[in-house]
Amino acid sequence: MIHGSIKFPGDKSISHRALMIASLSPEVSQIKNLSNGDDVKSTKRCLKQCGISINEISDNITTINGNTFSDPAYDLDCENSGTTIRLLTGLLSGNKINARLIGDSSLSKRPMNRIVDPLSRMKVNIKSTNGRIPISIKKSDIAGTDYRNTISSAQVKSAVLFCGLGAEGITTYYEPIKSRDHTEIMLETVGIHLEKNGNKIIINKPDVYPTSLNINIPGDPSTAAFFAGAAAIVPKSDLILNNILANPTRFEFFNCLNRMGTELEFISNWKEAGEKVKNIRIINRKLEAIKINKNQIPGLIDEIPILSIIATQADGKTEIRGAKELRFKESDRIKAIIFNLKNMGARLEEYDDGFSIIGPTKLNGATIKTYNDHRIAMSFMVAGLIADGKTTLDNEKCVDISFPEFYKLLNSIVK
Ligand code: S3P
Repeated sequence: MIHGSIKFPGDKSISHRALMIASLSPEVSQIKNLSNGDDVKSTKRCLKQCGISINEISDNITTINGNTFSDPAYDLDCENSGTTIRLLTGLLSGNKINARLIGDSSLSKRPMNRIVDPLSRMKVNIKSTNGRIPISIKKSDIAGTDYRNTISSAQVKSAVLFCGLGAEGITTYYEPIKSRDHTEIMLETVGIHLEKNGNKIIINKPDVYPTSLNINIPGDPSTAAFFAGAAAIVPKSDLILNNILANPTRFEFFNCLNRMGTELEFISNWKEAGEKVKNIRIINRKLEAIKINKNQIPGLIDEIPILSIIATQADGKTEIRGAKELRFKESDRIKAIIFNLKNMGARLEEYDDGFSIIGPTKLNGATIKTYNDHRIAMSFMVAGLIADGKTTLDNEKCVDISFPEFYKLLNSIVK
């Protein structure tokens, strides 16, 4: 069984934004519990290359001295991080920086027109390489725009809002389904005014600098999801997850877990820098299949790989639709889920925009093809807990992208 009371490093999405937003303020910001994954290290390194002073004053505390942007002397290597490259391109454009942004082979396959298009409309002098990296930006006179996106992406929304902070005139951004809103919450926390109307956001170039950011970043719910998932599928489990970010735009996985029959108890609730936080108890119960539609996808996009593992143990047909965005993540996650779950003996069907799984099925151990994707690796390590025979990963190291202590923490709660 899975048993214990655990906590996690800071949320990855909030960590990227904390570093970037603090870098806009002339005051000294203090961030506690920053994510220690490689993606956030990429953001830190790139900002330092652009003249921002970032110091770890203790194990868990980082200070940032901002408002000192300068052109980087060499390429900004965002490595595996889509959030780094997309948000940073917007931030640096808004700060009139000349830069070239590159990344690893996974990032080279990911679509960049989604930011090139809106930023070009804002008159940013931006070039991609056939819609892929490298991206080059050159200092230009930027202007607000009215941008209606057809996809829901917090990365694109954040890039446009960051650029809008330096643009003349009004920037309006609309998204069809609300994506995570950490950028909006954090900008308001440092005194930047935004107008929010449903799924529409309006931002103006502020006439004051942002104040310092002081935040103790809540634990990452996307990382906690692997442990909650383990407790949901391993019989007799009872697990407490402490200090978990519970922003409603990130909480759909926990809602789904509850709909599937897992017992969730919210032990305490509070707020940190405008973000909801909870301690959550997860108690193993019999699982039922559920249907997930396109409106729910942005709220659990990163948790779908672990949800697919849980679905193999639920009674009936779980169906996930409207999730085509999964094909454009660190790997094509639909393909990775189908390939590996089939190898483990699950009954499933692939769709262009998702998949369905019929359960419950006894899984067999397998060698997992991770596609070097951290969330695929962690999901299938959890599947291995209930499989007959041994489950191994072709790349164990890729978990470092978001959670280097994954194996140690998982081992500590398996009783
Ligand atoms: C993120 C947004 C999501 C998510 C990614 C992190 C963010 O991507 O999948 O892991 O921090 O803004 P999209 O915005 O492309 O959906």
